[in-house]
Amino acid sequence: MEKYVIKGGKKLSGEVVISGAKNAVAAILPAAILSDEPCVIENIPNISDVTIILQIMSEMGANVRMLNKTTVEIDPRTLRNIPVPYEKAKLMRASSYFLGTLLGRFHEAHVSMPGGCDLGDRPIDQHLKCFAALGAAYTIDGGMVNLTADRLVGNQIFFDKNSVGATINGIMAAVKADGLTIIENAAKEPHVVDLANFLNSMGADILGAGTDVVKIRGVKYLRGTNYSVIPDQIEAGTFMAVAAATRSDILIKNVIPKHLEPITQKLVKIGVKVEQFDDAVRVIGGDNYVGTTVKTQPHPGFPTDMQPQMAAVLTCAKGASMVTESIFDNRFRYVDELRRMGANISVEGRVAVIEGVDSLKGAPVKATDLRAGAALIVAALGAEGVSEIYDIYHVERGYENMEEKLRLLGADIEKVDEPDPVASEKKARKAI
Ligand code: UD1
Repeated sequence: MEKYVIKGGKKLSGEVVISGAKNAVAAILPAAILSDEPCVIENIPNISDVTIILQIMSEMGANVRMLNKTTVEIDPRTLRNIPVPYEKAKLMRASSYFLGTLLGRFHEAHVSMPGGCDLGDRPIDQHLKCFAALGAAYTIDGGMVNLTADRLVGNQIFFDKNSVGATINGIMAAVKADGLTIIENAAKEPHVVDLANFLNSMGADILGAGTDVVKIRGVKYLRGTNYSVIPDQIEAGTFMAVAAATRSDILIKNVIPKHLEPITQKLVKIGVKVEQFDDAVRVIGGDNYVGTTVKTQPHPGFPTDMQPQMAAVLTCAKGASMVTESIFDNRFRYVDELRRMGANISVEGRVAVIEGVDSLKGAPVKATDLRAGAALIVAALGAEGVSEIYDIYHVERGYENMEEKLRLLGADIEKVDEPDPVASEKKARKAI
């Protein structure tokens, strides 16, 4: 059982290089299944979600070859359409993308219901609505989502809910369908645009990604491509929060500053200095922050995936802050953990009210999901004393070499492997 041990309160300095975007690569790798030739994908992050996706594709028979640490070549021509089982699908939300991509290529898909962070209710009704509109029949049986279609035909689809996953799945299912598909109320997140750019680089005909309306004219053939994934908006935002919480001066490189705008604006509002360059931002923490309001919204609003890390910064801002979560039902599970560190937070439904305290104190805490874990790292680095963060496998799903990158900035962080007390207890009992 691995944990991070963090001695907080140290000022950090230097540069950090941001890796490829988890949520973009989570769509782009499965989308390679649609290609009729091998593809080379660069700037992929070394995170466990990527390992699992590539494993699923290899087990299906695709030829997957790492050309170097961040570049993979995928030849999907030998891939067979076998079901994606529960053991794999439960590990991440992105397993749902195998529905769109397998349906797009084989007109048939069998994928166990997707897992991912427990953020409350995460239905897939909009995904299914879209597949049905394109001509697929679906059943859900024994936890498996089964899709079949004689042929896929373009259609007009209006999403009742603005959904990143359903938009990406819709694009993947429509890219080789007959005729024109129009997706309205589409998600506009940078990773939706990156997926469309990837597919267009193979010869797809997708217009409007990044706006409310995406038009996809089906094509028969997708050629191989050499494509580089965009930098991770949320990893960059997390390091911005780290700089703010530790009152440090950090240069964050390999970013698209435009994608960071909603985060930058909130940090500047509370008293952090942010300088923007072409592909970097410099974040200079201050000594006194003032509380603010944050409301998560679909892109270009404040990203829900940055809500916990921003709340961690606000725990030490003067006065009251109000954080409203408008995307997910249950994204405040980290609050109890921050309270252990001395944060003063109350939660009522989807709103958290934070009364700023002078400083947090290190404590043993547990990551309840990926971004909750990131928030605890932010808090622990800014806190006085030692924190131990448990269940860091959540963090490793989405952050490449987090502790190494932080150590290079001067943080006192260690990854420690400690025996699981429950497993040891069971072993001891068996031995008696
Ligand atoms: C993706 C991201 C996740 C991010 C989220 C919102 C990936 C792998 N994950 O998740 O990191 O937090 O976008 O930016 O890219 N909904 C429905 N019906 C559906 C689909 C969604 O009601 O069929 C609802 C969800 O419950 C949620 C909202 O729509 O309330 C947004 O969810 P969605 O954008 O689909 O999130 P994900 O794609 O799961």
